[in-house]
Amino acid sequence: MTKTMQAARITHYGQTLPVTQIISQPTPGPTDVLVQIHAASINPIDLKIMHGGLKFLLSYQMPLTLGSDFAGTVVAVGQSVTDFHVGDAVYGRPRKNRIGTFAEAIAVNQADIALQPQNLSFEAAAAIPLVGLTSYQALHDLIHLRPGQKILIQAGAGGIGTLAIQLAKQLGAFVATTVSHQSFEQVAALGADRLIDYHTEDFATVLHDYDAVFDTLGGRALEQSFQIIKPGGHVVSLSGIPDGKFAVAYGLPWWKRQLLVAASHRVTHLAKQAQANYNFLFMHPSHVELEILTHLIEQERLHPVIDRVYPFSQLNQALSYAQAGHAHGKIIVSFD
Ligand SMILES: NC(=O)c1ccc[n+]([C@@H]2O[C@H](COP(=O)([O-])OP(=O)(O)OC[C@H]3O[C@@H](n4cnc5c(N)ncnc54)[C@H](OP(=O)(O)O)[C@@H]3O)[C@@H](O)[C@H]2O)c1
Repeated sequence: MTKTMQAARITHYGQTLPVTQIISQPTPGPTDVLVQIHAASINPIDLKIMHGGLKFLLSYQMPLTLGSDFAGTVVAVGQSVTDFHVGDAVYGRPRKNRIGTFAEAIAVNQADIALQPQNLSFEAAAAIPLVGLTSYQALHDLIHLRPGQKILIQAGAGGIGTLAIQLAKQLGAFVATTVSHQSFEQVAALGADRLIDYHTEDFATVLHDYDAVFDTLGGRALEQSFQIIKPGGHVVSLSGIPDGKFAVAYGLPWWKRQLLVAASHRVTHLAKQAQANYNFLFMHPSHVELEILTHLIEQERLHPVIDRVYPFSQLNQALSYAQAGHAHGKIIVSFD
């Protein structure tokens, strides 16, 4: 008999909150593992998907189970899986067309997971995959951040910021970050060198000659990044308008490429004027990069920063808290 599970689903874009339903557990394909989820984290992308804000890039069939990363125990493996076994504690970020971690179980491709750090609980491990991979891909893969370089990381108190600051320090960089005054102590403890209270100080007038900007805000803040960047420097944005280069790499059809080229014209023009490199990053799952994060965490060179843990029965309160936009670190949903 098919097993059932609880899953938080939406039936249409624009829904205010998901509804928890009882559905069949997924069956793992040949290269999948079936994971019993113990904890998941909330990411702004969950809200953006629910509200329909990412339809241009991601289109989903309804009903859709939300949730973008998790930690849990392997309970079954597909016939071609060799790297994982029943009982393994794993964490991961499922690929974009197979999300659904706000559920008691998920079938996930083995390439999208890794063994979770042995020194973390499931709740702490669930705080890592999406923000850890995103920060690693920005700082290491795109910016190639080197010791002694200066980087501005926007929103240092957020889920991305708290992880990216630690990674940038591991790479030997000087880190400036924007943060509210009440979070100064917490963010300084992560290693940030220059704290800018974004309510009273304008980063673009106080910072000069930066090698890199990791932009999580988009809009005006992204445009101002080009005022502080050195020629040859790198600006990577998670929240700006994707540019033509991204559209090609992402395999978007011709008409969507043209739209993005036009919409991102101002940012690409500012990058050219500043002689800087600009990249829009849409993070992707990576088994290899998750293993690097596991290693750093087990060596205690990186640690998750958790704001709150909610039981799964209070998922909607957790989503509403995330929606308010003032999380300091990660918001976790626990199934245990
Ligand atoms: N493209 C991708 O692949 C990708 C991947 C991950 C994330 N993202 C995007 O990146 C953004 C950040 O994600 P996140 O997980 O870090 O979000 P988050 O945890 O919800 O961010 C909340 C934090 O942002 C701070 N903040 C808000 N406005 C600020 C401002 N103007 N200046 C400085 N700090 C500010 C808040 O501090 P206060 O409470 O002090 O105001 C709070 O600590 C989201 O838009 C998300 O969708 C994109």
